[in-house]
Amino acid sequence: MSNSNNNSRVIVSLDFPDGKQALDLCQKLDPASCKLKIGKELFTREGPALVEKLISSDFDIFLDLKYHDIPNTVASACRAAADLGVWMLNVHASGGRVMMEAANEALDKTTHKPLLIAVTVLTSMSQEDLTELGINKPVEEQVMMLANLAKSSGLNGVVCSAKEASSLKAELGKEFCLVTPGIRPANSSSDDQKRIMTPAEAIDAGSHYLVIGRPITKADDPLAALESINASIN
Ligand code: C5P
Repeated sequence: MSNSNNNSRVIVSLDFPDGKQALDLCQKLDPASCKLKIGKELFTREGPALVEKLISSDFDIFLDLKYHDIPNTVASACRAAADLGVWMLNVHASGGRVMMEAANEALDKTTHKPLLIAVTVLTSMSQEDLTELGINKPVEEQVMMLANLAKSSGLNGVVCSAKEASSLKAELGKEFCLVTPGIRPANSSSDDQKRIMTPAEAIDAGSHYLVIGRPITKADDPLAALESINASIN
């Protein structure tokens, strides 16, 4: 799908406090067998230089900065991310239709359009948290409503739990890209994740891409851990 260098469905989450640790890990990985996710901590510390360095090493980058601001600001930020050459980026669907359409239109003008996906409801939010924000719908309904809004605003997909993947796929179709964290290979530690699925279960449920951190980044042999996950879904 899109401007990817490879057909790997595993996105390794670079949850490191600095670039050195991230680069040490990336040197052990193969850009043909995975993609990488860079989030707010690493990006804020290392900036675009790290993104460019990894792209020049042939890695596909998902820039997970979850933009949420006025339409003009988000559109400009998306354009800047696309100019870095990222493969995927994201915005909060709760920024609304006009914001998402502006982001999508800004990316339409780029030569290598990245995939643009939305965050619906953060999985850290409880029903009580939503109520406190004045949102009285059940979480699942709110997720579905925001995913529909993202699709009708022209976005390529959403980040979601693999547990939501089958219902989202049924509602939004198999082309709508589902990016799912909370993945744990059989027999690996669940760490702080509460609702997990194995890579194969998540793919069967309709996930297109699996965001996987610690089962790879903390493995004694990260490349072997990655290859074993790839083998389990191929
Ligand atoms: O190490 P682990 O595989 O649990 O890492 C999962 C990654 O996905 C982390 O970067 C985490 O912040 C992110 N994530 C998540 N659950 C969400 C959204 C993002 O675990 N709902």
